[in-house]
Amino acid sequence: MRTHYCAQINENNIGEEVTVAGWVSSRRDHGGVIFIDLRDKDEVVQLVCDPADNADAHKTAEEVRDQFVLIAKGKVRPRGEGLENPNLKTGKVEIVVDELIIENPSKPMPFDLGDEKVNEEIRLKYRYLELRTQRAYDIFKLRSKATIAARNSLDELGFLEVETPVLTKSTPEGARDYLVPSRVHPGEFYALPQSPQLFKQLLMVSGFDRYFQIAKCFRDEDLRADRQPEFTQIDVEMSFCNQDDVIAVAEKLINDVFTQCGFDIPKTFKRMTYHEAMEKYGSDKPDLRFDMAMVDVIDIFERCDNEIFSNIAKAPKRNRIKALKVPNGDNIFSKRQMKGFEDYVRKFGAQGLGYFQMKEDGLKGPLTKFFTEEDLNAIVERCELAVGDVVFFGAGEKKVVLDYMGRFRLYLAEIMEIIPKDVFEFLWVVDFPMFEVEDGRIKALHHPFTQPKSLDFEDIEEIESIAYDIVLNGTELGGGSIRIHKEDMQAEIFKLLGISEEEAQEKFGFLLDALKFGAPPHGGFALGLDRLIMLMTGAESIRDVIAFPKTQRAQCLLTQAPSPVDSEQLKELSLRIRQTPTA
Ligand code: AMO
Repeated sequence: MRTHYCAQINENNIGEEVTVAGWVSSRRDHGGVIFIDLRDKDEVVQLVCDPADNADAHKTAEEVRDQFVLIAKGKVRPRGEGLENPNLKTGKVEIVVDELIIENPSKPMPFDLGDEKVNEEIRLKYRYLELRTQRAYDIFKLRSKATIAARNSLDELGFLEVETPVLTKSTPEGARDYLVPSRVHPGEFYALPQSPQLFKQLLMVSGFDRYFQIAKCFRDEDLRADRQPEFTQIDVEMSFCNQDDVIAVAEKLINDVFTQCGFDIPKTFKRMTYHEAMEKYGSDKPDLRFDMAMVDVIDIFERCDNEIFSNIAKAPKRNRIKALKVPNGDNIFSKRQMKGFEDYVRKFGAQGLGYFQMKEDGLKGPLTKFFTEEDLNAIVERCELAVGDVVFFGAGEKKVVLDYMGRFRLYLAEIMEIIPKDVFEFLWVVDFPMFEVEDGRIKALHHPFTQPKSLDFEDIEEIESIAYDIVLNGTELGGGSIRIHKEDMQAEIFKLLGISEEEAQEKFGFLLDALKFGAPPHGGFALGLDRLIMLMTGAESIRDVIAFPKTQRAQCLLTQAPSPVDSEQLKELSLRIRQTPTA
């Protein structure tokens, strides 16, 4: 229907007859002459309907309203002097219309498409209208480019794209499953995959050597700004590889994707052990766009005269005393802010928040009286304090202190606005613990198919695994591991996790069987595609980069899913809904 997309029209077309098609983004009546901004997928062009040029087109233009669908034919001419719009590719020209067709009218928009502050409920209900904006189109154009770049990159590296089932059995990624009832097998259920983890391992047993998939994954978990119940992974697995081989593939892939999308990033990324990340930044996904690393001062506090601190310091394996320096903080923070900081960390389990201020004549603050001159100097030296700095202390049980101090570091950086925008700070976090103990229960930190470095241990939490995460600007972008490829080791891990032989057989018997038939050494990783696009575009929510996302309560406001089904359908599935009794 068209001869040109709007974006293709410029000074080279002056004098040419063109046909364009799209939606009215605005219409202005300037005393007889009507100007219409017509927008197609990615650009606007100005139409001029002058009764002196063409009375019919002008008459039609009088009926036109915002978001009507038009097809316009006319001649391209330069805009008048001073009327050019440098923000548009088409800004130097306009089309004098001699034929205007209203292909379809439109009801008034339910919200102003240009207004990003409109309540999310309305925006998601009419998501297809929100997607009509330039900003949305740009995001999905980038997403498409990134996906194609990922495919090409992995194809070049010899990876085979294979689709794995969506109706399957539960996979152990740690969230709840979405279940699908079977009609043919009453009372039985498929689970939607939380990831293609087990199938990609089976493909390695098949000898496919290098697999990838742009895979939809489903997890029924509490949603946050960077989580959706249904999301996409760039999922990769390879055989006969070690951690460095997998990391090299991931770095090449990430580099190709960013380069194709127009961003310049390093070819290889820094690495940090999980232990160092936790001890210095209180997080397994540290944001390294700014420094502010924590320093250990437990040995100095052990000698102080305050019983609370010295007692905590007596158990350096179980406890931590961490110092967090804020350069020039003494000149930045008011007394009220300092008080507020304590309230902030208390929310995350802190008993209090000590601090020192570095003045011209040494350290000052309520805690100084408990320390000798020598130890105060040791603190100054250890924390590399200069006049004007403030140093905060967190003391208590290791997990709690690292957690609240890590959050506090981010909180301070936000307040001080020291986090640079428009930078990409990648980091590999390596040597994750194999297990974590939560409420006395042993859990796999990654998943139970991850290879431990060794199984000789005194403290189960000290077993390290060959697992790695890729972190970008403080967000976990992806993760992976070298897998267990021997049946006896896999059985041993299940045993440590308290999974009985019967349960292991029932849940993962097919994998355990496969390990008996010549499973090669293998490993891989998965990147969250939605998170990747979110970070690339600077979007605030993962919902902005998913075409039809769900709300925080896992609803699709557009289709009203989830929704009740009729009793016939339930009957076919041998299901009955138990009414929850009202109180
Ligand atoms: P993991 O569970 O770490 O690993 O997931 C990999 C990446 O997927 C993204 N992601 C999510 N994105 C949006 N919403 C969610 N609910 C969500 N959950 C995860 C994250 C995350 O880093 N099978 C392993 C990979 C492997 O070992 O190869 C796995 O799924 O960006």
